[in-house]
Amino acid sequence: MVRTRRQWGPVRSLLALLPLLVGVPWLAVKHQYSLPTPIVDQYDPITSLPQLSEATILEYAKYLSEDIGYRTPGTREHAIADAWMTEKAYQLKEECERVVATQPGRKLQCEVWRQEGNGSHRFDMMSARLYKRYVNLSNIIIRLSDGTEQGKADAVLVNSHLDSTLPSPGAADDALAVGVMIECVRVLVNTPGWEPKHAVVFLFNNAEESLQDGSHLFSTQHPIASTIRAVVNLEAAGTTGPELLFQATSQEMIEAYAHVPRPYGTIFANEIFSSGVLLSDTDFRQFEYYLNVTGLDMAVVGNSYMYHMRGDLVENIEAGVAQHMADNTFALIKHLASPASPLPGLASGYARPRTVFFAYLGQFFVYSFRTAEVLYSLLFIASCVLIKTAGGTTSRGATMVKAVFVVTVGALGALIGANAVAFVMQRMLGRGMSWFKGEFEPLILYGPAAMCGALLTQLPFTRVPERALLHAQLLSHAFLAAAGQLAGVGSSAIFFLSAVSMFVALVVDRVVTYLSTPNVDGARMMSGTGNMQSGVAKGLEDGNEKVDKDGFVSLWTYALGQVIPLLTGTQLSAATLVVFVPLTGRFGSEAPAEYIIASIVAIVGSYTLSLATPFAHRFGPTALRKAVIVLLLGVGATMAVFARKDVFDRSHQKRLFVLHKEDLNTGEQHLHIAAADGAPGFDDLVHDITTRFGVDGVPPKAVVMDNWNSDWDTLYPFSAFLSPYKIDLPLDPAYDAPWPPEEQFTVSAVNDTIDESKGTRSMTLRIDHPGIMWTVIAFDAQVLEWTLDNSPPEEFARHHIKEASFYGTDVWTVDMTIKWPSPQNMHPKSSDVGGLKVDFIGIQEKRMWPAKKADADGSQAMKLFREFDAWLDEKTGGSVDALLMGCVSGQAVV
Ligand SMILES: *[C@@H]1O[C@H](CO)[C@@H](O)[C@H](O)[C@H]1NC(C)=O
Ligand SMILES: *[C@@H]1O[C@H](CO)[C@@H](O)[C@H](O)[C@H]1NC(C)=O
Ligand SMILES: *[C@@H]1O[C@H](CO)[C@@H](O)[C@H](O)[C@H]1NC(C)=O
Ligand SMILES: [Zn+2]
Repeated sequence: MVRTRRQWGPVRSLLALLPLLVGVPWLAVKHQYSLPTPIVDQYDPITSLPQLSEATILEYAKYLSEDIGYRTPGTREHAIADAWMTEKAYQLKEECERVVATQPGRKLQCEVWRQEGNGSHRFDMMSARLYKRYVNLSNIIIRLSDGTEQGKADAVLVNSHLDSTLPSPGAADDALAVGVMIECVRVLVNTPGWEPKHAVVFLFNNAEESLQDGSHLFSTQHPIASTIRAVVNLEAAGTTGPELLFQATSQEMIEAYAHVPRPYGTIFANEIFSSGVLLSDTDFRQFEYYLNVTGLDMAVVGNSYMYHMRGDLVENIEAGVAQHMADNTFALIKHLASPASPLPGLASGYARPRTVFFAYLGQFFVYSFRTAEVLYSLLFIASCVLIKTAGGTTSRGATMVKAVFVVTVGALGALIGANAVAFVMQRMLGRGMSWFKGEFEPLILYGPAAMCGALLTQLPFTRVPERALLHAQLLSHAFLAAAGQLAGVGSSAIFFLSAVSMFVALVVDRVVTYLSTPNVDGARMMSGTGNMQSGVAKGLEDGNEKVDKDGFVSLWTYALGQVIPLLTGTQLSAATLVVFVPLTGRFGSEAPAEYIIASIVAIVGSYTLSLATPFAHRFGPTALRKAVIVLLLGVGATMAVFARKDVFDRSHQKRLFVLHKEDLNTGEQHLHIAAADGAPGFDDLVHDITTRFGVDGVPPKAVVMDNWNSDWDTLYPFSAFLSPYKIDLPLDPAYDAPWPPEEQFTVSAVNDTIDESKGTRSMTLRIDHPGIMWTVIAFDAQVLEWTLDNSPPEEFARHHIKEASFYGTDVWTVDMTIKWPSPQNMHPKSSDVGGLKVDFIGIQEKRMWPAKKADADGSQAMKLFREFDAWLDEKTGGSVDALLMGCVSGQAVV
């Protein structure tokens, strides 16, 4: 193959492309993270019309998360928040009635409920079977309607949750959304003339973190639940960036979402979430399951490092986040309450969406799967035609097969390169998760590794022509788009977009090559199109004198072909890394975090720089070899730098779970410690903790985590992620009678009858838990029937029942009939004890740190927590966030 005399070398070419390689990703990221300007005033100073005020929303969030504090279901603070919200709801109702009284004829009615109730439901999670029982939990509900039966018949539900989880003040999750909803009510009510054709039901649900009890209570027991036709759920797993739409379950609701001023969501996020890899779940699940309705599930996801931690505070919520959520929610409500609303149509059910949608640079695109199938197939066919008619070697079948093979091998090489470095970092150097502190840091470590792997695989194939490789890349993307969409994967749009870019580039390439044959004045044609700076343009035009059809490819081809992959790929990598990097800090020590992150970088990277493989062949074998060597050196250098980095710091903390447990049967006290990540250094930390707090000379014991380990049942089934240690604590000599008689935590069987002829035993298991919340019982039995929501499995098995109840509630029960005598030998861990053995555990309401810092009860646990927390902060420089729980456990044979 002859090379042009005037072709630029690799460095010069890369420099020419640099503005594009930097500018396009910059543009993509800028758009992706742009937020509205926060509004302070509740009323527009000029028009006097009400407006959604971020300042007001954040005031509510701050009041809930700081003035009230940790609102874990069952705590006193939770009850205080309940009372506050109830009062707020009645104030809004009064305001509504006052406003309506001054506007005669305005059809607007505001109603308020405080719902309270008991229930139980099955809540399988992370492939564990789990049951929930709740007593006296509450919800606060506001309904805005036009006051007619007809207007109330089809309603949209807007949901947020008032409670926060165990170790978190929950400012973003979910006090922010509570504030947004309150603001939406205020603005709707005060907007002159606004009348809802269809009702809007605002649910301030007060038990999400205890595993969606509040939404279950509403869905199964509230009198207006059956009027709900669609749901808008507002959540947060982070504190920055726009609110992401990550579940949209019908065509109608996706179209409704098109009305928001700042759309941010893609079918890609939907498909990732519904695949379950994120192991997370929202109230949306209850609404889908019990109300059988469609909806939109949205959450703030940026900077997810503080999610469910102490750092979930208003000061960490980025300016504009509240405004974004409020503006979008408000637009949705207005549309869904209007005469144009899809709500009445949804009364007769809905179908799973067969719709591709994505927000792209602020525009929202929606089209049907059918359109997508046709469009993508057409593009694939057009690509084939383009290749077939290309002339030269490109149109030769054998060359094309080889070229497709080469670009595929390149992508595989990227994957292998990145994972090889991951292996070295994690296994050989013991420096896993070195990139944790920055969502984009993995790009620095694994980007060059992936590129190096890709280029290494190209070394044996340097005789395949560049232009053929470009066409092969187009062909593979067009094929993936069409095949993926025909298989029902909406995310295939990603490949369609990149293929369009490459197709256009190669069509232009064809035309230019044709025009620059000797008969045509190609050079003039080219400069006529140029609006690029002349210097660059001149370089890019270089080689137009080349007449050989297989010859020189203009840099313009690369520029054009790369625009959309760069734009889309940057958005994709930003969106995935923002979610997955912080997730590695909480998804278990056994999870292959290093390889997952390396693979994400390699896959998204191969996509983003789709044309890197053809480009690598542009300058001949010597240049390729040099590039590989330079990259190898670069990979070595970045590895050296990353191997020296600390994994955690003050704003990207390690999650440490610490349980101070008193055993009611033995009187022993232990400290149980667990981490939820696989970062190095945990064993050393546990040893330091043991030296400082444990019994002298007794080493920490690594504990096996399985279904029969009840120590961590408070966090079941999340406990499966933990790799815990147990530390013996010295007994405080002053500590003798731990439990005042009125504070007995017991499990007993009442109304106990054995039917020997049937071989069954019926009873009411009664759990008394004064002062103790989030109780869990676990036992092995073959349950025949019980008062929990679901029919039990027809076999001898271990069952876990978790309770969550309102503050002050101190008893719960479950009625059941079990096979008796129990087939005790069914599991090696269940020994014959002459009765039903029940493991039980709970958290003492007054013994949680830091939630209960202010009203510490002087117990040994709280004294220990105070010391522990201060010691840990000093020892680790604040890079560890510990959740400290004072638990009581026991074993009863009933
Ligand atoms: C829930 O159960 C508690 C305790 O058994 C009882 O006092 C309360 O009345 C029940 N609430 C409802 C709404 O049934
Ligand atoms: C839920 O709705 C879907 C679609 O409208 C319908 O096909 C299905 O039968 C419903 N399921 C139940 C349990 O009502
Ligand atoms: C549940 O709430 C009801 C009404 O508020 C109250 O009468 C009852 O005592 C509560 N039950 C428990 C077990 O606390
Ligand atoms: Zn939440």
